[in-house]
Amino acid sequence: MTLLDVMRNRRSIRKYKKQQIPVKEILQVLEAGRLAPSGANQQPWTYILVTDSELKQEIRKEAEMVEKNFHRKAPKSLKNWFKKQGITPQKSFLTEAPALIVVAGYTKATPYWLESTWMSIAYVLLQAASQGFGTLTYTPSDTRFLNKLLKIPKDYKPVAILPIGYPAEKPSPETRPRKPLETLVHRNKCGSIRF
Ligand SMILES: Cc1cc2nc3c(=O)[nH]c(=O)nc-3n(C[C@H](O)[C@H](O)[C@H](O)COP(=O)(O)O)c2cc1C
Repeated sequence: MTLLDVMRNRRSIRKYKKQQIPVKEILQVLEAGRLAPSGANQQPWTYILVTDSELKQEIRKEAEMVEKNFHRKAPKSLKNWFKKQGITPQKSFLTEAPALIVVAGYTKATPYWLESTWMSIAYVLLQAASQGFGTLTYTPSDTRFLNKLLKIPKDYKPVAILPIGYPAEKPSPETRPRKPLETLVHRNKCGSIRF
């Protein structure tokens, strides 16, 4: 598969098989994250690999509390989108996936700690897909509980939890379509769509 094939076929996975993934394989996924570019080469990312079942339970419990609050306050358009996508405050993937990769960024790494951390996440998602694993970019609206539970120093901000495992669903690309390229690309000046 080419890189573009991996990108075209990758989909967020919210249902996982119980089957474990060898840590060696997850480290290979994280190797991709390590290689991402970053502002001033600061490499502000850090990954906490969570495989302990009790810890996953605790993470799920805290995350669901945060989510209930978030869903209650969400604007109507977002509520409708959640409904269409079947997204609820229940985050069963946090305990079903054999492993969680919590990604945190070192906030003192200037410039661009946040942008760089997200670059690293994108690399991780693509490498995971190329190794046949499902992942999800899950972004709890408040991530401070992760600092506490995982003893993450306060200078590091957790930005996402990436469950990783063998997919137990196969969402079709049509359910999450992308905008056509010609609506996104402009030549020389914005507004010109001939290229
Ligand atoms: C920055 C970011 C935040 C996201 N946060 C969540 C989230 O909190 N919960 C969730 O279920 N999916 C989340 N997603 C996944 C998106 O919903 C998903 O990528 C999008 O709908 C496209 O679907 P696909 O990944 O299957 O192509 C997030 C994705 C990104 C890039």
